[in-house]
Amino acid sequence: MSLDQYFLLGRSGLRVSRLSLGTMNFGKDGFHAPYGKTEEEARPIFRRYLEAGGNFVDTADFYTAGESERILGRLIAEAGARDRLVLVSKFTNSVDPGDPNAGGNGRKHMIRAVEASLRRLGTDYLDLYLLHTWDRITPVEEVLRTFDDLTRAGKIRYAGLSDVPAWYAARAQSLAEANSLVPLINLQLPYSLVDRTIETEHVPAGQELGMGVTVWSPLASGFLTGKYRRSDQGLAGEGRLSGAGGSGLQWTDAQWNVLGPLETVAEKLGVSMAQVALNWAATQPGIASAIVGASSAAQLDASLAALDFEIPAELRADLDAASAVPPGKPYVMFTPQYQSWIVNPGTKVADKPAGYRPDVRNWVPAD
Ligand SMILES: NC(=O)c1ccc[n+]([C@@H]2O[C@H](COP(=O)([O-])OP(=O)(O)OC[C@H]3O[C@@H](n4cnc5c(N)ncnc54)[C@H](OP(=O)(O)O)[C@@H]3O)[C@@H](O)[C@H]2O)c1
Repeated sequence: MSLDQYFLLGRSGLRVSRLSLGTMNFGKDGFHAPYGKTEEEARPIFRRYLEAGGNFVDTADFYTAGESERILGRLIAEAGARDRLVLVSKFTNSVDPGDPNAGGNGRKHMIRAVEASLRRLGTDYLDLYLLHTWDRITPVEEVLRTFDDLTRAGKIRYAGLSDVPAWYAARAQSLAEANSLVPLINLQLPYSLVDRTIETEHVPAGQELGMGVTVWSPLASGFLTGKYRRSDQGLAGEGRLSGAGGSGLQWTDAQWNVLGPLETVAEKLGVSMAQVALNWAATQPGIASAIVGASSAAQLDASLAALDFEIPAELRADLDAASAVPPGKPYVMFTPQYQSWIVNPGTKVADKPAGYRPDVRNWVPAD
């Protein structure tokens, strides 16, 4: 499965690649500076993605304090690629700590943020605009109304959410539907073999409500590439996690224990651990695209080949088992075992008759 095959994102007509290019490390300013890349270093990464047929590029106003958008804008113009790209940016983070309305998800900041992103990117529209993080304050109706206005004004083509509770996404989408406002087509969330939290609520919400789930840090920021080992300081090895980019992160026994089975599967398939980890995340049920980050064109090349093979069912089962997080309550009650006690206990399902409707009248008593 190469990158020049495109899939519909959520319940929309927007076609995107299964691997999206993350540009959080384009630039050397702000929060992401410790592992940021110069424009000269970013250029071959971006070019390689385009050459492979990729069309889905992710940035945010917060990344490298706006440098990511500036560099990306110049690289897109240089390549003459604006029209064919699905360009994604995000708002939420404050751009002025002294100004209470210069951050968060209120209407005033949303409009200011989109104008600033468009200026930095050197374009007059975004294909997809995402709320970056729930601010716990702004009424969801205000966010939806502003997304709708920005779409009508031609500033954005589609809207979506990143890093929000699943109940918030469900409420937002339901209100958008009920009020004929522009629908949300995307949920962007963290997901990898060492972080499967979103499977419980977000993935089913995305599937049910037409929001394609795109996942960030599918390599757990490099942890799943196998280049790190445990040390007295927590983690050692060459890469951003052993530098300032990994400070504050704690890796649990359960997470370290995923690496052995991952390495075994990679050896059996004759590919790298990173490729297996990326393939697994991108092909999990309900996942639309994985957003990959790369420090070099060589790393990106390896990642772009990650969908060129299939993980056989028995090896996928090994990975699933090694990374599984047992469901807590009440989620355990939605597993097949519990459900078999709940749905019409003591009955069996008849063969579907003509005109079958999936309700209780199609269930017949057990012999
Ligand atoms: N919505 C959000 O809140 C949010 C949050 C985070 C990220 N994102 C998006 O997701 C994108 C990807 O995030 P991420 O960079 O954390 O993703 P990732 O794919 O988990 O990690 C990428 C990092 O792993 C290392 N790596 C990649 N390929 C490798 C290889 N073959 N061998 C060894 N190391 C390799 C590189 O770091 P080193 O070489 O430096 O070790 C690279 O920068 C971001 O750019 C951004 O667009 C969104």
